[in-house]
Amino acid sequence: MTQTRIGLIGLGAYVPERIMTNDEWAQLIDTSDEWITTRTGIKRRRLAADNENTADLATFAAERALADAGLIPDQIDEIIVASDTPEVYTPDTASFVQHRLGASEIPTYDLAGSGCAGFVLGLDIARSRVGVGDRRVLVIGVELLTRLMSWRDRNTCVLFGDAAGAAVVGAGAGAAEIVAATAGTDGSRGHILTAEVGGTRAPFNVERARQLLHQWIVMKGREVFKEATTRMSAAAKEVLTQAGLDVDDVALVIPHQANLRIIQATGKALGVPAEKVYVNVQEYGNTGSASVPLALWEARQQGRIAVGDLVLLTSFGAGFHWAAMLLRF
Ligand code: COA
Repeated sequence: MTQTRIGLIGLGAYVPERIMTNDEWAQLIDTSDEWITTRTGIKRRRLAADNENTADLATFAAERALADAGLIPDQIDEIIVASDTPEVYTPDTASFVQHRLGASEIPTYDLAGSGCAGFVLGLDIARSRVGVGDRRVLVIGVELLTRLMSWRDRNTCVLFGDAAGAAVVGAGAGAAEIVAATAGTDGSRGHILTAEVGGTRAPFNVERARQLLHQWIVMKGREVFKEATTRMSAAAKEVLTQAGLDVDDVALVIPHQANLRIIQATGKALGVPAEKVYVNVQEYGNTGSASVPLALWEARQQGRIAVGDLVLLTSFGAGFHWAAMLLRF
């Protein structure tokens, strides 16, 4: 059996309308536009409306990806949702998306808690699913991080935003081919970036509710910073090695958009000039698993990706997890 290219056959993204600026944060907590801009590069982020939840954002992005692929929901064979901010605790967000889209009674599942690396990891899983059964798999990265973080903790709250991005993975001559992919986990360092309350270790109770601990991302910023840079550049180099290609062959690098300094350090470690590294963190902040598909979608919308271009995705998040992928458009 000869298989045509397996890759991305449709892309979509959705960001909520409401924009929150750094100056607005400065009115709520002890921070400033200057501090946030210098340390992170972030200027603005989006906030989901009160009547918008995870499955809403996911569905909007998915509908755009399906339209881009020229497909109707019935033509999807599987759905994977990567999110750390699910619609409800159980069932998974993917079930809600299956229903909302009006897809067939297909298998759907979440990659929950996979952090900001979840979407790229989901693409790699989707590739293997397409390989065994000629399926079309919808992969969504979605996050409403502004609902999980503490609005009183200046160490974290200014960093995050809400968004969703989606891709359809399938086989076809026009697909943005998945040339190589890698992923990994170091579970020994989970405590460095975690949301602990609500699971079996620290069940939600009245005392924790009083302290608003159900909305509290714990993060050792400097350690995350170092690890993110090291892991994202190493994973990116690994996919290039797998493909027998050099970084000079790559037209555009799309790293997880956590922080401008992490993005710049990753580009430097890879040896790529700044103009080949896509940056939109100033607009959206860190949108977790939505950040890579949102950036990929936006880069293509802006004409930054041409047919034949090699695009290198690299991501890192809680776990720690990391995942990188090389695409040929
Ligand atoms: N406004 C003003 N001051 C703030 C602040 C804010 N929003 N957040 C923290 N500070 C203060 C700290 O309290 C600290 O004050 P102190 O020295 O009096 O204790 C000071 O700024 C310096 O903090 P530090 O942690 O040394 O800053 P930093 O240069 O490491 O930058 C981060 C902090 C969070 C921006 C940076 O570590 C980072 O980006 N880490 C990675 C975060 C990330 O991307 N996480 C998700 C990965 S997927």
